[in-house]
Amino acid sequence: MKQSFKTSKLYYGFPIFILGYQDQNFGHNITTCSSSYSLGDWLVIGVGAEENAAEQIKHYQKFTVNIPDENLMLEMEQAGFISHREKLERLGVHYEISERTQAPILEDCPVVLDCQVDRIVEKEGICHIFAKIVERLVDPELLDEKGHFKNDRFAPIYFMGDGHQRVYRYLDKRVDIKGSFIKKARKKDGKN
Ligand SMILES: Cc1cc2nc3c(=O)[nH]c(=O)nc-3n(C[C@H](O)[C@H](O)[C@H](O)COP(=O)(O)O)c2cc1C
Repeated sequence: MKQSFKTSKLYYGFPIFILGYQDQNFGHNITTCSSSYSLGDWLVIGVGAEENAAEQIKHYQKFTVNIPDENLMLEMEQAGFISHREKLERLGVHYEISERTQAPILEDCPVVLDCQVDRIVEKEGICHIFAKIVERLVDPELLDEKGHFKNDRFAPIYFMGDGHQRVYRYLDKRVDIKGSFIKKARKKDGKN
């Protein structure tokens, strides 16, 4: 039988991303996040209302989602600890400015999404930001000759834990194609 578990939070594995946005005080800026889901062209992220990222995204209505891998751990953590300060120059992060959203595109993040805000629902100190993905950018090494995403070559970092301790988790190389287990089970049952 399962045990009831009391904790203030339970993050069961969310990919870390670095928000890039225009900043009224510093020109451009970044903030580390992990709260998101994506469905089709939609992306919903959760940002604390007190954070500079929330204030700036409310103002400009555009942002980038920069998805780092293990190579950017230090900068990713620092961008998640420093608040209401300029971070791009301070952390020496290389970037260019998106033509579509005027938000920073981080060079060292293999996958980047350009996003346009549709609406923001603010509740109990959290801004739920509903956005449309207007462009998806990836390092060319992540695309095969047909232009399809090479899933096994990209390993985002996952954020996991409870109110007691939160940790980073890394992906290993195992990949299964969707439906392969159903196919195997059908074969075992003598069905095609
Ligand atoms: C791994 C990690 C994940 C985080 N996830 C979120 C998140 O999903 N939403 C959020 O509002 N803050 C999140 N934070 C905290 C912010 O990054 C942190 O409060 C930051 O200093 C805010 O900066 P700003 O005020 O300059 O925007 C996370 C931090 C780390 C290190």
